[in-house]
Amino acid sequence: MLGAGNDRFGARSFEAAAEAYRACLAAEPSMPQAWQNLGVALSALGEPARSVPALRRALRLRPDYALALENLGEAARLADRPEVEEAAARHALACVPDDADAWLRLARLQTRRRARGEAVASIDRALRLAPGVPVMMLQAADGLGQAGLYPEAIELCRRAVSAEGGPEARFLLARMLERVGEDAEALEILDRLHQEIPDNGIVAHCRDALRGRPSAERAPGDYVRRLFDASAADFDEHLVGRLGYRAHEVVAEVARRRMRGPGAILDAGCGTGLVGAALAGDGHRITGVDLSPEMLVRARNRHVYEALVVADLIEFLESRPEGAYDAVLSADVLCYFGNLRPVFAAAARALAPGGFMAFTVEQRLEDGWGLMDSGRYAHSAAHLREAARGVLRLAALGTEVLRREAGRPVRGLLCVLARP
Ligand SMILES: C[S@@+](CC[C@H](N)C(=O)[O-])C[C@H]1O[C@@H](n2cnc3c(N)ncnc32)[C@H](O)[C@@H]1O
Repeated sequence: MLGAGNDRFGARSFEAAAEAYRACLAAEPSMPQAWQNLGVALSALGEPARSVPALRRALRLRPDYALALENLGEAARLADRPEVEEAAARHALACVPDDADAWLRLARLQTRRRARGEAVASIDRALRLAPGVPVMMLQAADGLGQAGLYPEAIELCRRAVSAEGGPEARFLLARMLERVGEDAEALEILDRLHQEIPDNGIVAHCRDALRGRPSAERAPGDYVRRLFDASAADFDEHLVGRLGYRAHEVVAEVARRRMRGPGAILDAGCGTGLVGAALAGDGHRITGVDLSPEMLVRARNRHVYEALVVADLIEFLESRPEGAYDAVLSADVLCYFGNLRPVFAAAARALAPGGFMAFTVEQRLEDGWGLMDSGRYAHSAAHLREAARGVLRLAALGTEVLRREAGRPVRGLLCVLARP
């Protein structure tokens, strides 16, 4: 039975494999390997929350089962169960205490629950296990940066730069220097990197943002993906909990007011699914699209989307049949685009007649659009009007507070464009 399950798993028939493992366990419930394989099959089926108990069962039967521990950590991460993930990391370290990677993994989880002292101790432990290994120094520096310990992160980045001087180390150093206001040195590093690797969009975008001079009409996809993959685990708590983020509420409220009944909605740049959650229960069929797989992991766990797709929102809109959506909603996403005309044109095509697009952007008081040092673009009301002209009709435009930053309100525009 176990062999049959493995064959089906090998043929990527995950449902059939899970069935075979269950049959095997019905006959012999104390087989750790069958529980572990069932857990892996459930993860492959996109059900990490159901995989976790199966893998735990395997570990109760064989506590030093390294593969099950590794898979439990990954399933817990996908199910967004940080407490289970941390317990798995600790269990793994109890089995193999000298695993530097595992100490860094634990540090990431400790940072997430704001246990800064514990995170620093774990990073320290990793560095003592692998002293002088640049890749380890960089991961550790990244961890320190995430814990807000910028001077310590900078010190470690400088050590990594002296040890090997690769672009990753210099890039991270520049980003950390920006955090402490050392913009001149950061810009010098980014300028040099840009000369060496001119095709690297992430470097170019960060350099442009620091200079306040955009050379592209939108942020590169790689930049957005990297940014949000790194912040996904903390996104809701940080934005909603600490910064009073409310763009999702504002956009969902437009949908509530304008839609006369259940309809087809595209949540363009859905992130962790806050817009979908705000509209859950209204009977809409909501599709989410986002560039960041890690953000989508969180959206998936809400179980409110009909479909979730990893893609660029313009490419996705262009790939849909004409008139596919009654509404396109985009909360705090178009700040990663400068010129908005291509987005509006793609949305207009994918909207059904009478459909609408509702979105927020950060407000720019000067004309046009501009790139801010945050790496986001800001837009004037005039740009929204111009970019929509001949494509979509301006149905509403007003100001809103989107969130707070450094204790001050971030002013935004809430815009509704309708397809005639
Ligand atoms: C600040 S978050 C907002 C997420 C969500 N709309 C909300 O209100 O919570 C911005 C999201 O837009 C996504 N994003 C930015 N540019 C994108 C693009 N070109 N295509 C798809 N997603 C994009 C990011 O990956 C990120 O998840």
